[in-house]
Amino acid sequence: MNFLELVKARYSVRNYEHRAVEQEKLDYIMECVRLSPSAVNCQPWRFAVVTEPDRLASLKRAYSREWIQSAPCIIVACGNHAEAWHRKSDNKDHTDVDVSIAVEHLCLAAAEIGLGTCWVCNFDTECCREAMGLPDELEPIALIPLGYPADKTVPEKKRKDLKDILL
Ligand SMILES: Cc1cc2nc3c(=O)[nH]c(=O)nc-3n(C[C@H](O)[C@H](O)[C@H](O)COP(=O)(O)O)c2cc1C
Repeated sequence: MNFLELVKARYSVRNYEHRAVEQEKLDYIMECVRLSPSAVNCQPWRFAVVTEPDRLASLKRAYSREWIQSAPCIIVACGNHAEAWHRKSDNKDHTDVDVSIAVEHLCLAAAEIGLGTCWVCNFDTECCREAMGLPDELEPIALIPLGYPADKTVPEKKRKDLKDILL
C-alpha cells in the first residue's frame, strides 16, 4: 500500500468487532506514535492504552455515543502544555499541533495493519480525567477508539476539491 492508498484506507470507524487487538499490533502503533515529530522535539505528550475492562467502561462514560461501546481499546492522547514549545513572536502554544500529529500517526499506522480508529474530541474531559486519574498537568486532548472494523466497506471520502483549498 503506498501512502495515498493508506490515506484513502483510513476512515472514521464507528463499529468494532468484539475481539481484542494483539499486543504486537498495539506495540507497532505506539512505536509509530513515539517517532512522531514535534515542535523543537519537545514531545509534550502522554498516551494511555486502555484495554482493562473496568477502566475501559469508566472511560466510555466520557463519550455518550452508543457506538463507542463496541471498541475493545481506547487510546487517550494527552498534552502537557508546560512541556510544549511556545512560539516566541506570539507565545502560541504548540501542544495541540504536536499531539494531533502523533494521533494521526496512530490512526494511519492502525489503518496500515487493518485496524480502525476514530478521532473523538467531543468528550467530557472531567469524566475522562476522573476515569484515568490524570494529573493536573495533563490535558486529555483526544480519545481514539481502536479495533477491528465490523463493517468492511470503506465509505466515500467527502472532501473539498483541491481548487477550493489552494490559495
Ligand atoms: C479533531 C477531530 C475531532 C473529531 N471528533 C469526533 C468526535 O468527537 N466524534 C466523532 O464521531 N467523530 C469525530 N471526528 C471524526 C470526523 O467526523 C471525521 O474525521 C470526518 O468526518 C472525516 O471522515 P473520515 O475520518 O471518515 O475521513 C473528529 C475528527 C477530528 C480530526
